[in-house]
Amino acid sequence: AASDLDPYVTPQLLDLGDAFVDFNRQSSKALDLLHGRTVVNLFFENSTRTSSSFEIAAKRLGADVVTMPVASSSVKKGETLIDTAVTLNAMKPDILVIRHSASGAAELLSQKVGCAVVNAGDGRHEHPTQALLDLLSMRRAFGDVTSLTVAICGDITHSRVARSNVALLQMMGARVRLIGPPTLVPGDADRWGCEVFHDMREGLKGCDVVMMLRLQLERMAGALVPSTREYFRFWGLDREKLAWANPGARVMHPGPMNRGVEIDSDVADDLDVSLIQDQVEMGVAARMAVLASLSARWGDAR
Ligand code: CP
Repeated sequence: AASDLDPYVTPQLLDLGDAFVDFNRQSSKALDLLHGRTVVNLFFENSTRTSSSFEIAAKRLGADVVTMPVASSSVKKGETLIDTAVTLNAMKPDILVIRHSASGAAELLSQKVGCAVVNAGDGRHEHPTQALLDLLSMRRAFGDVTSLTVAICGDITHSRVARSNVALLQMMGARVRLIGPPTLVPGDADRWGCEVFHDMREGLKGCDVVMMLRLQLERMAGALVPSTREYFRFWGLDREKLAWANPGARVMHPGPMNRGVEIDSDVADDLDVSLIQDQVEMGVAARMAVLASLSARWGDAR
């Protein structure tokens, strides 16, 4: 989890990520830090960015990569998460990258298998590599993150991205605000060490970064879901609302975006303000940094 990282390791991971960003911009991108190592991607929830960037990251470091097609695996015949992981573990992978809808799934697996486990998102709990790539994007855009005020806006309650970002941003000295409707901000959010706002105009005043979140409908079974039009009117980021933030404020979104719901295309696609495509690029570099740091831990980096 991002909350398990410490203030000494995190800047080292960011420095490594920075180096990989430059490396990835070269035409030839092959390293052998993970040569002879096997990485298994096990995604029980849908993913575009995280799954593909972990696969690309591992391949660029020279690993053998297996991306398990969960939809056509024996999970569909009723095999449990733990049985699946223990089965894969018997094939002696070195790293298991897991995404699962259950909070705590990665932690649970790490107690059952002999290889390293990397959390690629567990329920509403954490998405640590997302927070790392977000921090890398902010650091490259602003230089110093300690003076930043970052607003995380929208569906905070169901967001693992919010939880990981709060932990990592606060650890690095940034101020974090949570902005959203009372129904989508956890009741204990004031204990997260953030300022909480239920009004976009008030909350965005003085912010340098506006991080928008999707309505995570897949975690809202039975809840009262706002209409798209009503939600966009009060909480969707457009030019008018962005003008309430500091001049030069940058816009972020972990993706996938729902255009016209939490964000307007006009803002999302404006490369002078939007860091969204940078975030995707940083995703590969940040995940290379995480995987490479595991190779250093084995003590046989080549
Ligand atoms: N940000 C993120 O986790 O995106 P994916 O669901 O596409 O992996």
